[in-house]
Amino acid sequence: MTSLYEEQTNQVALKKQLVSSISHELKTPLMIMQVTIQGILDGVIPDEEQAEELLNVVDEINKSSIMIQDMLQIYRLDDAKSELEISEFSLSNCIYHFIDGFDAVIKQHNLQINLDIKKDIMIEADNKLIKRVISNFFTNAIKYTPENERIDIEISDTKNEAYFELINYGANIDPENLENIWMPFFRGEDSNTKERLKTKGTGIGLYLVSEILKAHNCRFGIENVDKGVKSYFYINKKVE
Ligand SMILES: Nc1ncnc2c1ncn2[C@@H]1O[C@H](COP(=O)(O)OP(=O)(O)O)[C@@H](O)[C@H]1O
Ligand SMILES: [Mg+2]
Repeated sequence: MTSLYEEQTNQVALKKQLVSSISHELKTPLMIMQVTIQGILDGVIPDEEQAEELLNVVDEINKSSIMIQDMLQIYRLDDAKSELEISEFSLSNCIYHFIDGFDAVIKQHNLQINLDIKKDIMIEADNKLIKRVISNFFTNAIKYTPENERIDIEISDTKNEAYFELINYGANIDPENLENIWMPFFRGEDSNTKERLKTKGTGIGLYLVSEILKAHNCRFGIENVDKGVKSYFYINKKVE
């Protein structure tokens, strides 16, 4: 058994590693932004190409911003229980919000999204953090689903619990890796998804998801289903 001291030391080491890894990941987007904007200022990039180049810059800013937020969140979650900002909100609306936000990418990859939301489901939880969870599940689904495939999203409820389930088809996770995907920095390498893995990722998404869901006392998981991957969580509708 590890002692409390060892455990805390490991935690600190893990966090240091997270920060150094994210700092490293931030160098590339910063460089792209710097070079592009300098190029425009110096007149090296022709007028007709500027708009597109600037859109790339916006993309890089968004990515960097997510990375920085993840890093800050990992620090805050330390004392998660006392730090949760609980409010009542609609889980259904959260989903609609993401579908709208990802409209362009969904079209670009020609993905078909099937929503099964029969009614508005209200829950008491930390809105920002639950959005972060859904956003991570959703971005993973988009990243690791081959083009022209399908993503099903369903939410339902019982008297006390709300249930979120997302299945992305055309992908599977190597069964040997099913446990590892929750570890910080772990990224899969399976041939199916190799192409998509060229898209950036830090491998901390699911680590953050697990910390957030644990702080909310949720049951959650990711498993292989027939021709797909299912990501899900159950959350209490009311905070006890
Ligand atoms: N919905 C999914 N479908 C297929 N593979 C997935 C899915 N979600 C996660 N994975 C696998 O788990 C790994 C870890 O996910 P994550 O922590 O979000 O890191 P990242 O997305 O930055 O690689 C991914 O690299 C991928 O191999
Ligand atoms: Mg991810």
